[in-house]
Amino acid sequence: MKERIQQLLSQIQQLQAGSAEELEALRIKYLSKKGEISALFNDFRNVAPEDKKEIGMRINELKQQAQNRFEELKAQFEAAKAEAERQDLTCTADPVTLGTRHPLSLVREEIIDIFSRIGFTVEEGPEVEDDKHVFGMLNFAPEHPARDMQDTFFIEKEEGIQKPTDILLRTHTSSVQTRVMTTQKPPIRVLCPGRVYRNEAISARAHCFFHQVEGLYIDKNVSFADLRQTLLYFAKEMFGADTKIRLRPSYFPFTEPSAEMDISCNICGGTGCGFCKQTGWVEILGCGMVDPNVLESCGIDSKEYTGYAFGMGVERITNLKYRVKDLRLFSENDVRFLNQFQSC
Ligand code: DAH
Repeated sequence: MKERIQQLLSQIQQLQAGSAEELEALRIKYLSKKGEISALFNDFRNVAPEDKKEIGMRINELKQQAQNRFEELKAQFEAAKAEAERQDLTCTADPVTLGTRHPLSLVREEIIDIFSRIGFTVEEGPEVEDDKHVFGMLNFAPEHPARDMQDTFFIEKEEGIQKPTDILLRTHTSSVQTRVMTTQKPPIRVLCPGRVYRNEAISARAHCFFHQVEGLYIDKNVSFADLRQTLLYFAKEMFGADTKIRLRPSYFPFTEPSAEMDISCNICGGTGCGFCKQTGWVEILGCGMVDPNVLESCGIDSKEYTGYAFGMGVERITNLKYRVKDLRLFSENDVRFLNQFQSC
Protein backbone atom coordinates (compact mmCIF):
# COMPACT_ATOMS: atom_id res chain seq x y z
CA MET A 1 0.00 0.00 0.00
CA LYS A 2 2.74 2.42 1.03
CA GLU A 3 4.55 1.64 -2.20
CA ARG A 4 1.44 2.28 -4.26
CA ILE A 5 0.94 5.64 -2.52
CA GLN A 6 4.55 6.57 -3.23
CA GLN A 7 4.19 5.53 -6.88
CA LEU A 8 1.04 7.64 -7.36
CA LEU A 9 2.64 10.58 -5.60
CA SER A 10 5.58 10.66 -7.98
CA GLN A 11 3.27 10.15 -10.99
CA ILE A 12 1.13 13.06 -9.89
CA GLN A 13 4.09 15.36 -9.42
CA GLN A 14 5.15 14.74 -13.00
CA LEU A 15 1.71 15.17 -14.57
CA GLN A 16 1.45 17.41 -17.68
CA ALA A 17 -1.56 18.28 -19.83
CA GLY A 18 -1.56 19.80 -23.33
CA SER A 19 -5.27 20.46 -23.63
CA ALA A 20 -8.44 20.79 -21.60
CA GLU A 21 -9.47 17.29 -22.67
CA GLU A 22 -6.17 15.78 -21.54
CA LEU A 23 -6.45 17.51 -18.19
CA GLU A 24 -9.97 16.22 -17.69
CA ALA A 25 -8.87 12.66 -18.59
CA LEU A 26 -6.15 12.84 -15.94
CA ARG A 27 -8.59 14.17 -13.37
CA ILE A 28 -10.88 11.24 -14.07
CA LYS A 29 -7.95 8.82 -13.85
CA TYR A 30 -6.80 10.02 -10.43
CA LEU A 31 -9.49 11.99 -8.68
CA SER A 32 -12.88 10.72 -9.81
CA LYS A 33 -14.99 8.27 -7.81
CA LYS A 34 -13.61 5.40 -9.85
CA GLY A 35 -10.10 6.86 -9.97
CA GLU A 36 -6.83 5.61 -8.48
CA ILE A 37 -7.08 7.56 -5.24
CA SER A 38 -10.65 6.45 -4.52
CA ALA A 39 -9.44 2.89 -5.07
CA LEU A 40 -6.88 3.43 -2.30
CA PHE A 41 -9.65 4.63 0.02
CA ASN A 42 -11.58 1.45 -0.83
CA ASP A 43 -8.59 -0.74 -0.02
CA PHE A 44 -8.10 1.14 3.23
CA ARG A 45 -10.44 -1.21 5.07
CA ASN A 46 -7.92 -4.07 4.52
CA VAL A 47 -5.07 -2.16 6.16
CA ALA A 48 -3.91 -3.56 9.48
CA PRO A 49 -5.35 -1.51 12.39
CA GLU A 50 -1.90 -0.47 13.66
CA ASP A 51 -1.02 0.98 10.23
CA LYS A 52 -4.34 2.71 9.65
CA LYS A 53 -3.31 6.00 11.17
CA GLU A 54 -0.15 6.42 9.10
CA ILE A 55 -1.61 5.07 5.84
CA GLY A 56 -4.72 7.20 6.31
CA MET A 57 -2.61 10.32 6.66
CA ARG A 58 -0.59 9.42 3.58
CA ILE A 59 -3.64 8.80 1.42
CA ASN A 60 -5.15 12.13 2.47
CA GLU A 61 -1.87 13.83 1.78
CA LEU A 62 -1.75 12.18 -1.66
CA LYS A 63 -5.27 13.33 -2.40
CA GLN A 64 -4.39 16.88 -1.35
CA GLN A 65 -1.24 16.84 -3.47
CA ALA A 66 -3.19 15.53 -6.47
CA GLN A 67 -5.79 18.27 -6.10
CA ASN A 68 -3.07 20.93 -5.81
CA ARG A 69 -1.33 19.61 -8.91
CA PHE A 70 -4.56 19.73 -10.89
CA GLU A 71 -5.26 23.29 -9.82
CA GLU A 72 -1.72 24.21 -10.80
CA LEU A 73 -2.02 22.57 -14.22
CA LYS A 74 -5.39 24.14 -14.79
CA ALA A 75 -4.09 27.60 -13.97
CA GLN A 76 -1.04 27.09 -16.21
CA PHE A 77 -3.21 25.82 -18.97
CA GLU A 78 -5.67 28.69 -18.76
CA ALA A 79 -2.89 31.28 -18.74
CA ALA A 80 -1.39 29.70 -21.87
CA LYS A 81 -4.80 29.67 -23.52
CA ALA A 82 -5.45 33.34 -22.67
CA GLU A 83 -2.04 34.27 -24.08
CA ALA A 84 -2.73 32.32 -27.27
CA GLU A 85 -6.10 33.99 -27.66
CA ARG A 86 -4.56 37.39 -27.17
CA GLN A 87 -2.26 36.73 -30.11
CA ASP A 88 -4.77 34.89 -32.27
CA LEU A 89 -4.24 36.41 -35.67
CA THR A 90 -7.37 34.75 -36.95
CA CYS A 91 -9.49 36.75 -34.48
CA THR A 92 -11.86 39.21 -36.13
CA ALA A 93 -10.58 42.77 -36.00
CA ASP A 94 -12.69 45.58 -34.62
CA PRO A 95 -15.76 45.87 -36.84
CA VAL A 96 -15.23 48.19 -39.80
CA THR A 97 -18.17 50.47 -40.52
CA LEU A 98 -19.08 50.09 -44.16
CA GLY A 99 -19.15 53.24 -46.22
CA THR A 100 -22.05 54.16 -48.45
CA ARG A 101 -22.11 55.24 -52.05
CA HIS A 102 -22.88 58.89 -52.57
CA PRO A 103 -26.32 59.45 -54.12
CA LEU A 104 -24.76 61.54 -56.90
CA SER A 105 -22.38 58.69 -57.75
CA LEU A 106 -25.27 56.22 -57.75
CA VAL A 107 -27.25 58.36 -60.17
CA ARG A 108 -24.23 59.15 -62.37
CA GLU A 109 -23.48 55.42 -62.63
CA GLU A 110 -27.11 54.69 -63.47
CA ILE A 111 -27.11 57.33 -66.24
CA ILE A 112 -23.87 55.89 -67.66
CA ASP A 113 -25.28 52.38 -67.45
CA ILE A 114 -28.46 53.32 -69.33
CA PHE A 115 -26.57 55.02 -72.18
CA SER A 116 -23.83 52.40 -72.33
CA ARG A 117 -26.53 49.87 -73.26
CA ILE A 118 -27.06 51.78 -76.51
CA GLY A 119 -23.40 52.17 -77.35
CA PHE A 120 -22.23 55.32 -75.53
CA THR A 121 -18.77 55.28 -73.99
CA VAL A 122 -17.43 57.57 -71.28
CA GLU A 123 -15.01 60.45 -71.92
CA GLU A 124 -13.69 62.91 -69.40
CA GLY A 125 -12.09 66.31 -69.77
CA PRO A 126 -10.32 68.82 -67.52
CA GLU A 127 -12.20 70.88 -64.92
CA VAL A 128 -9.70 73.70 -65.34
CA GLU A 129 -10.27 74.65 -68.95
CA ASP A 130 -9.62 77.44 -71.39
CA ASP A 131 -12.14 79.87 -72.83
CA LYS A 132 -11.78 78.30 -76.27
CA HIS A 133 -13.09 74.84 -75.24
CA VAL A 134 -15.77 76.08 -72.85
CA PHE A 135 -17.13 78.93 -74.96
CA GLY A 136 -15.28 79.86 -78.14
CA MET A 137 -15.52 76.61 -80.08
CA LEU A 138 -19.08 76.15 -78.83
CA ASN A 139 -20.24 79.18 -80.76
CA PHE A 140 -20.60 81.56 -77.82
CA ALA A 141 -20.36 85.16 -79.02
CA PRO A 142 -17.34 87.01 -77.57
CA GLU A 143 -19.62 89.20 -75.47
CA HIS A 144 -21.83 86.34 -74.23
CA PRO A 145 -22.88 86.95 -70.59
CA ALA A 146 -21.86 83.44 -69.49
CA ARG A 147 -18.26 84.60 -69.65
CA ASP A 148 -19.10 87.38 -67.24
CA MET A 149 -17.29 87.27 -63.92
CA GLN A 150 -20.71 86.76 -62.31
CA ASP A 151 -21.07 83.29 -63.77
CA THR A 152 -17.59 82.00 -64.43
CA PHE A 153 -14.67 81.50 -62.07
CA PHE A 154 -11.60 82.74 -63.91
CA ILE A 155 -8.16 81.65 -62.80
CA GLU A 156 -5.70 84.45 -62.15
CA LYS A 157 -2.45 84.06 -64.00
CA GLU A 158 -0.32 85.46 -61.23
CA GLU A 159 -1.08 85.90 -57.59
CA GLY A 160 -2.41 89.38 -56.90
CA ILE A 161 -3.21 90.14 -60.51
CA GLN A 162 -6.95 90.48 -60.81
CA LYS A 163 -7.11 90.67 -64.60
CA PRO A 164 -9.17 87.78 -65.95
CA THR A 165 -7.31 85.27 -68.08
CA ASP A 166 -8.67 82.76 -70.52
CA ILE A 167 -8.17 79.94 -67.99
CA LEU A 168 -11.30 79.14 -66.03
CA LEU A 169 -13.25 76.47 -64.17
CA ARG A 170 -15.56 74.91 -66.73
CA THR A 171 -19.16 76.01 -66.36
CA HIS A 172 -20.56 73.01 -68.23
CA THR A 173 -19.44 69.59 -69.46
CA SER A 174 -20.17 70.69 -73.05
CA SER A 175 -16.46 71.60 -73.04
CA VAL A 176 -15.67 67.88 -73.24
CA GLN A 177 -17.59 67.78 -76.55
CA THR A 178 -15.06 70.10 -78.13
CA ARG A 179 -12.15 68.10 -76.75
CA VAL A 180 -13.62 64.84 -78.09
CA MET A 181 -14.56 66.28 -81.49
CA THR A 182 -11.08 67.68 -82.04
CA THR A 183 -9.37 64.40 -81.13
CA GLN A 184 -11.73 61.72 -82.46
CA LYS A 185 -13.21 61.04 -85.86
CA PRO A 186 -16.94 60.35 -86.35
CA PRO A 187 -18.85 58.23 -85.62
CA ILE A 188 -18.65 59.61 -82.10
CA ARG A 189 -21.00 58.44 -79.37
CA VAL A 190 -19.85 59.62 -75.95
CA LEU A 191 -21.11 60.46 -72.52
CA CYS A 192 -19.14 63.01 -70.51
CA PRO A 193 -19.83 63.10 -66.78
CA GLY A 194 -18.13 65.63 -64.55
CA ARG A 195 -18.13 68.49 -62.09
CA VAL A 196 -18.82 72.04 -63.21
CA TYR A 197 -18.49 75.41 -61.48
CA ARG A 198 -20.51 78.61 -61.50
CA ASN A 199 -20.17 81.74 -59.49
CA GLU A 200 -23.50 81.43 -57.66
CA ALA A 201 -24.50 82.17 -54.09
CA ILE A 202 -24.94 78.87 -52.23
CA SER A 203 -28.52 78.11 -51.23
CA ALA A 204 -30.93 75.16 -51.11
CA ARG A 205 -31.49 75.53 -54.86
CA ALA A 206 -28.08 76.64 -56.19
CA HIS A 207 -24.45 75.80 -55.56
CA CYS A 208 -21.11 77.03 -56.85
CA PHE A 209 -20.32 73.53 -58.07
CA PHE A 210 -22.54 70.74 -59.31
CA HIS A 211 -22.44 67.80 -61.71
CA GLN A 212 -23.51 67.27 -65.28
CA VAL A 213 -23.57 64.50 -67.82
CA GLU A 214 -23.16 65.53 -71.42
CA GLY A 215 -24.10 63.32 -74.35
CA LEU A 216 -22.85 63.65 -77.91
CA TYR A 217 -23.57 61.63 -81.02
CA ILE A 218 -22.01 62.52 -84.38
CA ASP A 219 -22.45 60.43 -87.51
CA LYS A 220 -23.88 60.59 -91.00
CA ASN A 221 -27.63 61.28 -91.10
CA VAL A 222 -28.20 61.76 -87.39
CA SER A 223 -31.60 63.42 -87.01
CA PHE A 224 -33.69 65.15 -84.37
CA ALA A 225 -35.91 62.03 -84.35
CA ASP A 226 -32.87 60.00 -83.22
CA LEU A 227 -32.31 62.49 -80.40
CA ARG A 228 -35.93 62.33 -79.29
CA GLN A 229 -36.00 58.53 -79.35
CA THR A 230 -32.76 58.28 -77.37
CA LEU A 231 -34.03 60.67 -74.73
CA LEU A 232 -37.38 58.90 -74.49
CA TYR A 233 -35.52 55.62 -73.93
CA PHE A 234 -33.43 57.28 -71.22
CA ALA A 235 -36.44 58.80 -69.45
CA LYS A 236 -38.30 55.48 -69.35
CA GLU A 237 -35.24 53.58 -68.10
CA MET A 238 -34.49 56.17 -65.45
CA PHE A 239 -37.95 57.07 -64.20
CA GLY A 240 -40.15 54.13 -65.20
CA ALA A 241 -41.90 52.82 -68.32
CA ASP A 242 -44.91 55.14 -67.92
CA THR A 243 -42.77 58.28 -68.15
CA LYS A 244 -43.64 60.70 -70.96
CA ILE A 245 -41.36 63.36 -72.42
CA ARG A 246 -42.00 66.80 -73.87
CA LEU A 247 -39.54 68.86 -75.90
CA ARG A 248 -39.89 72.64 -75.73
CA PRO A 249 -38.04 74.92 -78.18
CA SER A 250 -35.14 76.71 -76.50
CA TYR A 251 -31.83 78.36 -77.30
CA PHE A 252 -28.24 77.27 -76.74
CA PRO A 253 -25.35 78.75 -78.76
CA PHE A 254 -23.97 75.30 -79.62
CA THR A 255 -27.15 73.61 -80.88
CA GLU A 256 -29.61 74.46 -83.64
CA PRO A 257 -32.45 73.71 -83.22
CA SER A 258 -32.32 73.54 -79.42
CA ALA A 259 -34.82 72.22 -76.93
CA GLU A 260 -35.41 71.67 -73.26
CA MET A 261 -36.84 68.36 -72.22
CA ASP A 262 -39.47 67.85 -69.55
CA ILE A 263 -40.59 64.52 -68.17
CA SER A 264 -44.04 63.84 -66.79
CA CYS A 265 -43.77 64.55 -63.06
CA ASN A 266 -42.77 61.30 -61.44
CA ILE A 267 -44.11 62.46 -58.08
CA CYS A 268 -47.75 63.09 -59.01
CA GLY A 269 -47.69 61.04 -62.23
CA GLY A 270 -48.52 64.12 -64.30
CA THR A 271 -51.70 65.23 -62.55
CA GLY A 272 -50.08 68.28 -60.96
CA CYS A 273 -48.47 68.78 -57.55
CA GLY A 274 -46.31 71.24 -55.60
CA PHE A 275 -43.13 69.74 -57.02
CA CYS A 276 -44.10 70.33 -60.67
CA LYS A 277 -45.86 73.60 -59.77
CA GLN A 278 -49.17 72.02 -60.82
CA THR A 279 -47.97 71.67 -64.42
CA GLY A 280 -47.50 67.87 -64.43
CA TRP A 281 -44.06 68.35 -66.06
CA VAL A 282 -40.51 68.81 -64.76
CA GLU A 283 -37.54 69.99 -66.78
CA ILE A 284 -34.54 67.66 -66.77
CA LEU A 285 -32.18 68.59 -69.60
CA GLY A 286 -31.16 70.75 -72.53
CA CYS A 287 -30.49 69.31 -75.96
CA GLY A 288 -30.39 69.94 -79.69
CA MET A 289 -28.69 69.29 -83.00
CA VAL A 290 -25.01 70.23 -82.88
CA ASP A 291 -24.65 73.60 -84.60
CA PRO A 292 -22.70 73.27 -87.90
CA ASN A 293 -20.41 76.09 -86.66
CA VAL A 294 -19.40 73.88 -83.74
CA LEU A 295 -18.67 70.91 -85.99
CA GLU A 296 -16.56 73.09 -88.26
CA SER A 297 -14.65 74.72 -85.39
CA CYS A 298 -13.70 71.20 -84.27
CA GLY A 299 -12.61 70.13 -87.76
CA ILE A 300 -15.64 68.01 -88.63
CA ASP A 301 -17.21 68.48 -92.06
CA SER A 302 -20.75 69.71 -91.36
CA LYS A 303 -21.88 68.75 -94.88
CA GLU A 304 -21.02 65.14 -94.26
CA TYR A 305 -21.89 64.80 -90.60
CA THR A 306 -24.68 65.84 -88.28
CA GLY A 307 -25.10 65.15 -84.60
CA TYR A 308 -27.09 65.73 -81.48
CA ALA A 309 -26.04 66.72 -77.97
CA PHE A 310 -27.71 66.89 -74.61
CA GLY A 311 -26.70 67.92 -71.12
CA MET A 312 -28.31 67.17 -67.80
CA GLY A 313 -27.69 68.04 -64.17
CA VAL A 314 -26.99 65.02 -61.98
CA GLU A 315 -28.30 66.81 -58.87
CA ARG A 316 -31.60 67.48 -60.62
CA ILE A 317 -32.05 63.84 -61.61
CA THR A 318 -31.04 62.74 -58.09
CA ASN A 319 -33.62 65.15 -56.66
CA LEU A 320 -36.31 63.60 -58.75
CA LYS A 321 -35.27 60.05 -57.85
CA TYR A 322 -34.60 60.51 -54.14
CA ARG A 323 -36.49 63.74 -53.30
CA VAL A 324 -33.50 65.57 -51.86
CA LYS A 325 -34.87 69.02 -51.09
CA ASP A 326 -31.68 70.90 -50.28
CA LEU A 327 -28.72 70.87 -52.71
CA ARG A 328 -26.29 71.59 -49.89
CA LEU A 329 -26.86 68.11 -48.47
CA PHE A 330 -24.88 66.66 -51.37
CA SER A 331 -21.65 68.29 -50.29
CA GLU A 332 -21.95 68.51 -46.50
CA ASN A 333 -20.92 64.88 -45.87
CA ASP A 334 -23.46 64.44 -43.10
CA VAL A 335 -23.49 60.71 -42.38
CA ARG A 336 -27.15 60.88 -41.33
CA PHE A 337 -27.91 61.83 -44.93
CA LEU A 338 -25.36 59.52 -46.59
CA ASN A 339 -26.34 56.46 -44.52
CA GLN A 340 -29.78 56.55 -46.09
CA PHE A 341 -28.21 55.30 -49.30
CA GLN A 342 -26.62 52.24 -47.65
CA SER A 343 -28.71 49.61 -49.37
CA CYS A 344 -28.72 51.19 -52.81
N1 DAH B 1 -24.42 73.05 -71.40
C1 DAH B 1 -25.80 73.33 -71.06
C2 DAH B 1 -25.87 73.90 -69.66
O1 DAH B 1 -24.94 73.79 -68.92
C3 DAH B 1 -26.64 72.10 -71.14
C4 DAH B 1 -26.80 71.62 -72.54
C5 DAH B 1 -27.82 72.11 -73.32
C6 DAH B 1 -25.91 70.72 -73.08
C7 DAH B 1 -28.00 71.70 -74.61
C8 DAH B 1 -26.07 70.28 -74.40
C9 DAH B 1 -27.13 70.80 -75.15
O2 DAH B 1 -25.25 69.41 -74.96
O3 DAH B 1 -27.27 70.36 -76.41
O4 DAH B 1 -26.87 74.44 -69.30
